[in-house]
Amino acid sequence: MKTLSMKNKFGRTALAALAGASVLALAACGGSTTPAASSAAAGGAGDAITVYNAQHDTLTQAWVDAFTKETGIKVTVRQGDDLELSNQIIAEGDKSPADVFLTENSPAMTQVENANLFADISATVKDQVPAQYRPSTDKWTGIAARSTVFAYDKTKLTEDKLPKSIMDLASPEWKGRWAASPSGADFQAIVSAMLELKGEAATADWLKGMKENFKAYKGNSTAMKAVNAGEVEGAVIYHYYYFGDQAKTGENSKNIGMHYFKNQDPGAFVSVSGGGVLASSKHQDSAAKFLEFVTGKAGQTILQTGTSFEYPVGSDVAANDKLVPLAELQAPTVDSAKLNSAKVTELMTQAGLL
Ligand SMILES: [Fe+2]
Repeated sequence: MKTLSMKNKFGRTALAALAGASVLALAACGGSTTPAASSAAAGGAGDAITVYNAQHDTLTQAWVDAFTKETGIKVTVRQGDDLELSNQIIAEGDKSPADVFLTENSPAMTQVENANLFADISATVKDQVPAQYRPSTDKWTGIAARSTVFAYDKTKLTEDKLPKSIMDLASPEWKGRWAASPSGADFQAIVSAMLELKGEAATADWLKGMKENFKAYKGNSTAMKAVNAGEVEGAVIYHYYYFGDQAKTGENSKNIGMHYFKNQDPGAFVSVSGGGVLASSKHQDSAAKFLEFVTGKAGQTILQTGTSFEYPVGSDVAANDKLVPLAELQAPTVDSAKLNSAKVTELMTQAGLL
């Protein structure tokens, strides 16, 4: 309750500041601009912000619309992939127009963090998001989570024929039978978790086996469709592709069963989507408020009730009740700050997967 009333207060303050800013802007149009006036317009609470967004665009748009409605703060969204945008932020350095960066997976956040480009997250965000969904460094926060899953053809495979571990998929009996989208940030995050849990040699071996065994598709939905169409028996993807399709017509998932590896297996990896405020942002207040909103009750409820089917991680909001609860997934413990995208790219390139 305390947080909510503070938000409302901030919202009103933000609106008042915006109104002030437009008066100054009008004055500027009249030709009486002064340095004091323009710096007040650019630096006050409630400034518009720019979000570099690698999360699904419909999810972020839902967050942005609700945030702007509550605070009056306008948000410009630039859409891209995890590593495309992290590389862009690093190239732009402290000239980046980005105030906030949102990703699908953690490795791109770690990359920006390692370049020292994030401000610290606020105390409110830390309160709202349990430590297990934040990196140990407090430079960014989890905003949502997604589970690795083996989506399989239930017309062909019975439970006893399913792999016990994701590591099994590298063995010869799985040759030609499974799919993945190796170029995507989702799959690379799973490999980064394997690297952290099993080490470099085991991961390199697994990738070699994967190269022998798997069929490449571009995108997780395409990989799931291939399973559904009987082209392969299973695919390593994230859980929400299935639930999203089921919520529409279900036509691309009617033959699909969902196998969660559980048992702290690398294949039970729960990937944390990240959000951070850029240290170079000239709109620190608005940017921090946006992250507080996304990880707050209202933002997390959008995950619970919307069509993204990703897991909420903050403010005690439960998952959509169609999902297997996060606590039952027996995910391995991985510090997202340790996920190493550069090493993953190197190992996957060596294995001929990229
Ligand atoms: Fe995705």
